[in-house]
Amino acid sequence: MLNAIGLENCGLEVFIEKKVPDLARLPTKVLVNVVGDSIEDYAEICSRLDGVEAVDGFEINISCPNVQHGCRFASDPADCERLFKALKPATKKLLMAKLSPNVTDVGEIARAAVEGGAQALSLVNTLLGMAVDVKTRKPQLANVTGGLSGPAIRPVAVRCVWQAARACPGVPIVGIGGIRTLNDALEFFIVGASAVQIGTTNYLDPDLLNRLPKELGAWLAEQGLEDLGKVVGSVKA
Ligand SMILES: Cc1cc2nc3c(=O)[nH]c(=O)nc-3n(C[C@H](O)[C@H](O)[C@H](O)COP(=O)(O)O)c2cc1C
Repeated sequence: MLNAIGLENCGLEVFIEKKVPDLARLPTKVLVNVVGDSIEDYAEICSRLDGVEAVDGFEINISCPNVQHGCRFASDPADCERLFKALKPATKKLLMAKLSPNVTDVGEIARAAVEGGAQALSLVNTLLGMAVDVKTRKPQLANVTGGLSGPAIRPVAVRCVWQAARACPGVPIVGIGGIRTLNDALEFFIVGASAVQIGTTNYLDPDLLNRLPKELGAWLAEQGLEDLGKVVGSVKA
């Protein structure tokens, strides 16, 4: 999928008033995906939501390719570290850095985020892509470029998680990118992720979110394993 949604959302006030009550009823942890135009924006969102009980932590999106400022914090290690250092005093809740694959060395950025205070990492966000209508010779997207997601990006995402896990041993990682099946998710666990996210597949197979935990439980039992511990980071590479 190639999208250029540009992070459209209801904004902080409406989120607190209308969405948080629904989230509070969910029997799970809630991490809020945060984006801003500046360090101050990010810090304000985290500090406002720090007092909201239903929110367990933040996934700091420094990596969306569809906004002009979007990749500065994701591509410059010094800027990335500076952002997390500024967020640390804004919240006591979990800070997870959502990283971009559109960089030369994702391990370097992962290390900078952790040095700045990120306690967990999630990756990858979308790859920067472009498609052209051959008849009109115009880009398919009004934004010209967009974020590429889904199965096509999975090998890139698996490679990025592997590099981040090697760069930041012991830091929890959430693997993201093109997961459609248990086997896809297992690839991420084996290279070092201890959780996964599913994005694009929700458009095609929204029930995967219900099936995957059960399938994973059955697979672990079949392998004689009590939990994922022995699988995470077990890659023979
Ligand atoms: C329609 C769409 C909207 C997205 N919006 C966000 C967003 O608001 N914040 C974010 O961090 N990532 C966003 N992403 C990126 C996904 O969370 C995910 O990192 C990426 O799509 C790769 O995973 P997938 O192949 O499972 O979709 C979006 C992706 C898609 C396709």
